[in-house]
Amino acid sequence: MNRIITLDEFIIRGQKQYTDSTGHLTRLLRDIGIAAKIVNREVNKAGLVNILGVAGSDNASGDDVQKLDIFANEVFIDCLKNGGECCGVASEELEEFVVLDPVKNKDAQYVVVMDPLDGSSNIDVNVSVGTIFGIYKRKSDCSGPCEMADFLQTGAELVAAGYVLYGTSTILVYSTGNGVNGFTLDPSIGEFCLSHPDMKIPDAGNYYSVNQGYYLKFDLEMRRYIDQCSDSNLRLRYIGSMVSDLHRIMFQGGIFLYPNTRKYVNGKLRLLYECNPMSFIIEQAGGLAINTKLQRILELPVASLHQRSTIVIGSPDMVKDMKAFIERYSAVEI
Ligand code: AHG
Ligand code: MN
Ligand code: MN
Repeated sequence: MNRIITLDEFIIRGQKQYTDSTGHLTRLLRDIGIAAKIVNREVNKAGLVNILGVAGSDNASGDDVQKLDIFANEVFIDCLKNGGECCGVASEELEEFVVLDPVKNKDAQYVVVMDPLDGSSNIDVNVSVGTIFGIYKRKSDCSGPCEMADFLQTGAELVAAGYVLYGTSTILVYSTGNGVNGFTLDPSIGEFCLSHPDMKIPDAGNYYSVNQGYYLKFDLEMRRYIDQCSDSNLRLRYIGSMVSDLHRIMFQGGIFLYPNTRKYVNGKLRLLYECNPMSFIIEQAGGLAINTKLQRILELPVASLHQRSTIVIGSPDMVKDMKAFIERYSAVEI
């Protein structure tokens, strides 16, 4: 039997490869791993206890908030607070970023951005949900509280990003800019164990993932592209949780699209909490991520915490094909 490598062990090994590494990021990633285990426990209990349902408020982005969203948000913030490596958190669930008080004898050098529960409309029906996170080195001085500028960094400036998929099994996938690795939670020992080392996305695949219910609300060239996917006998899969859809694409290849619609003229997904971290991971696995104006997601300027973006992301050959298609058929100059 192969020796098990736990997430903690893997993170520490990674740290030792860098002689100037101080271990701060290591501790931060471990804190995220702990939060993920707690959220996993609650997600799995969700069918048993009365934690389900809409909490009755809207989140800062205008979506219904479900109770597990709030729970996950609090768990991640608490774990990051206790660890002392993170000086602030911006979350899809919060209007403003949260400043974390310094822990004695620690210089908190990082800020975290997160979508604590992605795909929350799936909770009540036992379908997969996820968590998305991104880690930035702060720009402000360590002697004071974090500032807005610490969060408004481009995706290319991410130090690390990852996601957790609470699915048939729970898996944590992350990258520190040196490839992508996946860890499956072994519930019998309560540890994330390395199960998918050096993940690579296939160059192309047979799946496309888009909310085709909005077909008539997409731009003409996008409708034509979707027609082409269908004409080419690609299989349509759409879970309603970006993490779950992209996790499948990571293994089987494919393309995920959330274009602008009449309701969401800039797209629906949030640049800071969803598009940037997922684009960082997909690019690290060999994929591509652009918006419908064909700009690289990771280079988009971030002007506000809850900024939205359109996104086309996935297998490199398929994203390139889509780009060429739009360049050819777009009615407006791109
Ligand atoms: P969240 O649950 O964090 O609000 O995110 C849901 C997101 C994304 O994960 C998913 O792909 C998309 O919204 C689904 O939106 P539609 O229902 O508009 O397709
Ligand atoms: Mn989301
Ligand atoms: Mn969410």
